[in-house]
Amino acid sequence: MVTCRGPASARRGPALAQLEVLSGDPAVLLEGDRIAWVGARKDAPRASTTVEVQGVLFPGFVDCHTHGVFGAPRLDDHERRALGEDYQAIAAAGGGILQSVRDVRARPEDQLAALARERLTTLLWHGSTTIEVKSGYGLATDAELKQLRALQRAGRDVPATLIPTFLGAHEVPPEYANRRAEYVRLVCEEMLPAVVSERLARACDVFCEPGVFDVAEARTILTAARRLGLDCKLHADELQGSGGAELAAELGARSADHLAAVSGAGIAALAASDTVAVVLPATMTFLGRPRQAPARRLVEAGAAVALATDFNPGSSPTISLPLVMALGVSQLGLRHAEAVLAVTVNAAAALGLAADRGQIAAGFRADLVALAVSDWREAAYWMGANLVTDVWTGGSACPSPSARVCLGFHVEA
Ligand code: NIG
Ligand code: FE
Repeated sequence: MVTCRGPASARRGPALAQLEVLSGDPAVLLEGDRIAWVGARKDAPRASTTVEVQGVLFPGFVDCHTHGVFGAPRLDDHERRALGEDYQAIAAAGGGILQSVRDVRARPEDQLAALARERLTTLLWHGSTTIEVKSGYGLATDAELKQLRALQRAGRDVPATLIPTFLGAHEVPPEYANRRAEYVRLVCEEMLPAVVSERLARACDVFCEPGVFDVAEARTILTAARRLGLDCKLHADELQGSGGAELAAELGARSADHLAAVSGAGIAALAASDTVAVVLPATMTFLGRPRQAPARRLVEAGAAVALATDFNPGSSPTISLPLVMALGVSQLGLRHAEAVLAVTVNAAAALGLAADRGQIAAGFRADLVALAVSDWREAAYWMGANLVTDVWTGGSACPSPSARVCLGFHVEA
């Protein structure tokens, strides 16, 4: 049993490689939705029901960065990249995020909810018991609210905890192309208050990138969000550095995500802050980009590093946190223990949940995942395999889905 027990806060430096693993015959006692006791089975208190688990038990994984509500996959983008066009050129030619925006705007809420339900259930059965999900394919008040309401509906049927984030500043929509200041105002003065009054999001995120939103615009939007009581997150320094990491640290954001182009000053700023550095190696792999985030340097500088899928139709159609852990080891130079803590304790911290989940420890939420492996390091080894056999959330066994993996049949919007 990999417990990840320790302080209820993000791990950094040498502590990120210190993983508690109970071998022999460990047991965990659940009471209601909480973990009541952890230890050797011979010492276990009496329980009303006993379940035998083969393999290795982990805390449920936390996927702290996804864009899990969308319509069709973006196969044309994928093919164009194979032919040599890059992500930004495709976006500038009307593909990219705006393709998904046209789709989401045209699709009814119940269809979006049904697609999200299938896809997020698939993430759950790859081990993710808590999943952050962003809006950002609406880019108009009604369409952003529709996406977040669809997510709320999906959450009633998916036994994972879904944590909603408002990302109205994911791109400037075409109708505001020459009036970007007006769009920023719309996000701050209309969208954010509407999202907050319907309690549709916990946090606000901005895609801070040259050509998308600059640092000043991101500061304006996140400051407005914080005033309304939302947490802040930031897509920072993904493709070209622009000081996003520094801004995230300055604002006390929960996380700064991507960071493939983070500067030395950005690394230092994150290391000196409580902002979690969320790295997304599947994205750079899927986009075929040569440069991954400097995860090793971030760890060595003392930043709290987490890993996530970035599940989305454009840059990371990846449902598997274990695959991302394997990429973390092989592409980012993380140790297996660091990869495990990066998808449990530190990913929970990126959502402000480090005191509630991410550990198999007394008092923590009883979210557990069993993997059919002999050695815990295999969780980050069998690239692309799904080793999950059982999942519990809030103390209850999740009903197995039908055998097929279904990512949703995507009829035209
Ligand atoms: O995190 N970079 C911005 N947003 C997403 C991509 C979304 C998309 O291409 O649809 C990302 O990579
Ligand atoms: Fe993203």
